[in-house]
Amino acid sequence: MDEIKVVLYGVGEVGSRIARHLLEKEGIEIVGAIDMAKDKVGKDLGEVLGLSKHLGVQVSDNPDMVFSKVKPDIAVHATGSFLKQVYPQIETCIKHGVTVVSTCEELSYPYVSDSQAAQKLDRLAKKHKVTVLGTGINPGFLMDTLAITLTGLCQKVEKISVTRSMNAATRRVPFQKKIGAGLTVDEFKEKIEKGHITGHVGLAQSISMIAAALAWKLDKIIIDKVQPVIAAKPASSEAVKVEKGKVAGLKQVARGIKSGREAITLEFQAYIGAEGEYDSIDIEGVPPIHEKISPCVHGDHGTVAVIVNSIPKVINAPPGLVTMKDLPIPSATPEDIRNYISERNKAMG
Ligand SMILES: NC(=O)c1ccc[n+]([C@@H]2O[C@H](COP(=O)([O-])OP(=O)(O)OC[C@H]3O[C@@H](n4cnc5c(N)ncnc54)[C@H](OP(=O)(O)O)[C@@H]3O)[C@@H](O)[C@H]2O)c1
Repeated sequence: MDEIKVVLYGVGEVGSRIARHLLEKEGIEIVGAIDMAKDKVGKDLGEVLGLSKHLGVQVSDNPDMVFSKVKPDIAVHATGSFLKQVYPQIETCIKHGVTVVSTCEELSYPYVSDSQAAQKLDRLAKKHKVTVLGTGINPGFLMDTLAITLTGLCQKVEKISVTRSMNAATRRVPFQKKIGAGLTVDEFKEKIEKGHITGHVGLAQSISMIAAALAWKLDKIIIDKVQPVIAAKPASSEAVKVEKGKVAGLKQVARGIKSGREAITLEFQAYIGAEGEYDSIDIEGVPPIHEKISPCVHGDHGTVAVIVNSIPKVINAPPGLVTMKDLPIPSATPEDIRNYISERNKAMG
């Protein structure tokens, strides 16, 4: 089988990290790159990635031209968080007969963001015989897929609680800005009101995916207001210093209500100076389950891995819009990535 041909759709921070990882892997070739950032368009991908060599792939802002020219097996999409914003981009991939794996948070379970748009994407993907998956570390893995997997050990499930707690001091500066680190409380509130700080995108998607896997009908999903975490003492990272009394980051809780009681609780907290970083899942049931990953999984590394490891599973999947709960259990791809492509797809390739 020929190498798997990939087009990168979005060469920002995450898209670039994915690209660098793909370049280390066997059996896969980057054949195109799309981005609309003016400082990237027209440049060689190697230069955009900060490599010392050219890769012979020019970054283009014209997806139609790229897809018509290189006919990839898959597009690795990393441009935005919201379904409305990425919908036309995903539609373009599908219409060119290109399967997609995307970091878009709302695409991880798009039925809760816009059910009609999700159904339309599903129909379109089936018509063009391609598969579309939204995934990543969170949403996509830690607060949904992993929780769902652990319920496989349970005879009864009463309640699922998931917490992701991160010390943002170890994360990159754009992330620290995204959580409001260093702002006054008033500045934080203003940015929330203006939508410049959104909190974590994906809690509703993760709750819905867990509920769908368990065939739980939820009364409603409640997403609490994003709360600032105020520094009780000075805290700092390399780039951002947080004075006592200023915002160190944020906290957010989301709840899935079933038959009038809280059946799923997701808590996301990320702030500079957080002690005890962890990802935990607690299931009240028979038997009860308590799982904890400590320190928590690094967001960027985990995202790159989940996206790249999903490539063969998405290529193997039947056409349509799929979510992580529809695919075989996640696993790493340490060998030549073609080893994970099913025989049927190899024959077609
Ligand atoms: N599911 C998960 O676990 C997970 C994990 C990490 C990240 N994400 C999400 O993945 C997305 C990408 O993250 P990032 O950190 O790489 O963001 P980023 O650094 O802002 O990169 C996005 C890139 O895509 C470009 N872009 C935006 N709209 C485009 C369009 N219509 N066509 C072509 N290119 C376009 C941007 O150009 P401009 O700079 O000109 O806008 C930018 O270069 C974010 O929404 C992030 O929240 C999800």
